[in-house]
Amino acid sequence: MSSYKIIDHEYDVVVLGAGGSGLRAAVGLSEAGLKTACISKVFPTRSHTSAAQGGISAALGNMGEDDWRWHMYDTVKGADWLGDQDSIEYLCKEAPKAVIELEKYGVPFSRTDDGKIYQRPFGGMTKNYGNGIVQRTCAAADRTGHAILHTLYGQALKHNTEFFIEYFALDLLMKNGECKGLIAWNLNDGTIHRFRSHTVIIATGGYGKVYYSATSAHTCTGDGNAMVLRAGLPLQDMEFVQFHPTGIYGHGTLITEGARGEGGYLTNSKGERFMERYAPKAKDLASRDVVSRSMSIEINEGRGVGKDGDHVHLNLSHLDKEIIESRLPGITDAARLFADVDITKEPIPVVPTVHYNMGGIPTNYKAEVLTVNGSEKTVPGLMAIGEAACVSVHGANRLGSNSLIDLVVFGRAAAKRAAELIKPGAPHEEIGDLETQKCLDRFDKLRNAKGENSTAELRLSMQKTMQSKCAVFRTEKTLKEGVEEIKKTYDGMNSISVKDKSLVFNTDLVETLEFDNLIRQAVVTVDSAYNRKESRGAHAREDYPKRNDEQFMQHTLSWCDGKNTKITYRPVHKSTLTNEVQYFPPQERVY
Ligand code: FUM
Repeated sequence: MSSYKIIDHEYDVVVLGAGGSGLRAAVGLSEAGLKTACISKVFPTRSHTSAAQGGISAALGNMGEDDWRWHMYDTVKGADWLGDQDSIEYLCKEAPKAVIELEKYGVPFSRTDDGKIYQRPFGGMTKNYGNGIVQRTCAAADRTGHAILHTLYGQALKHNTEFFIEYFALDLLMKNGECKGLIAWNLNDGTIHRFRSHTVIIATGGYGKVYYSATSAHTCTGDGNAMVLRAGLPLQDMEFVQFHPTGIYGHGTLITEGARGEGGYLTNSKGERFMERYAPKAKDLASRDVVSRSMSIEINEGRGVGKDGDHVHLNLSHLDKEIIESRLPGITDAARLFADVDITKEPIPVVPTVHYNMGGIPTNYKAEVLTVNGSEKTVPGLMAIGEAACVSVHGANRLGSNSLIDLVVFGRAAAKRAAELIKPGAPHEEIGDLETQKCLDRFDKLRNAKGENSTAELRLSMQKTMQSKCAVFRTEKTLKEGVEEIKKTYDGMNSISVKDKSLVFNTDLVETLEFDNLIRQAVVTVDSAYNRKESRGAHAREDYPKRNDEQFMQHTLSWCDGKNTKITYRPVHKSTLTNEVQYFPPQERVY
């Protein structure tokens, strides 16, 4: 057995990650009387949910008529028919209840004059099945994620969730295909902890940092996704990476879509409102894949702004000052800080920037992790929620404000399912030391790595490759080069070096463990993209410009054992959960 001293813990449930989905699950689990641990590598209120700006979608109908079925139609269409329609039905139907719960927990939403939750227009959100724009996105100014995160952390503390903060999770403990807990490293004092639990809920967020320019925090390294790959389980739909149209040029900082929801618009170097050409109906509020592609075409065809013509402008100076102050205070600050722009006077320089991973750990709508061996099977003891999961409600492209609602609806669903499956205080099975040893061997190998490649160099090489070869537009050639370059970078891990060998706040080792997590996800992302020979949602192949429903209305499943990847497909769920709504068959997308 290894020389590391191990501290053991036993919980009914361990939630890994303390962002919006992890905290919502923790609140529900603790409310249900399950002994719950929540493990996070950062202080909970520093989780990336705090960066979510524009709002959370729910058909509340506070600003005019709305219906959860319209929301469902928009989400299916936005997903370019790759979303599972049972999960989408669940999301949209449960959304109003989940938002009212947040209101009762104390989220300080912006209000209408008559005291209701304020809702703004967002891309792709329509009324009456695509006939006109609806105001469906509930907002707390442009700091909605921040407001939700802080409120849920307070609720989790109130309900006695036990937090393990600044603990870095290393790997899952699997036995005979079932998850029995996980191992984590306490960054603060260097100790190693083994958590045994009846269920682990992975809520570790996305892996935006595989790219060079992303709105994601440095912590968005998809740690849970990588643990799932190392456990011999697949990830799903990893080729679908969302570029948000309005990242601040040169910085990547997010400028909320809510800015366009409040009346902002994009222009090119000729001052043209070019979205009128690409999406005559929805214009600047078309879905993100459409707006990002349109911006890239403008730039590639020489109509970008700036000395290198490599970005476009977002105009807000025509908006009422009172609206800017009350509804867009956060981006007013961000534009001043990162672009030196006063938005009441000048446009913001913006460029499509990596923002969200539609792909992740496959789950059903109860948040149970799925694997496929002939047919779909759940993995006992393992759940996933939030951006780490692929449930799949976002399919090939997520609509703005459908992320925050995904977090709370499926965080809540995971807690409900766990409460059905687990008897509080039930005894834990013995698991033996083999899995613990395997995990610590990997940790020890990286900690003592004495090669020639620095983690920073390898990470930069991965990020540059992903940015240029697996971008908004893709071709056979760029993707093939991407597959080869990423493989080479992956091989560079064999000669990686970690200079700091200590165990207390060793950021050199943390970054190396995170890079090991990222590079595996880069491998399956570029490989999945190479193998999907069609264009759908955020996956735009110049050599296969059309959607191919016959062959590819299927989820990609990708395994990676470190060296080799394997890809298979599974059909999209076409059935709905109730007869309150019918299956939406694929259509041509018109904007
Ligand atoms: O633009 C935004 O405020 C981002 C929202 C989202 O990604 O859902």
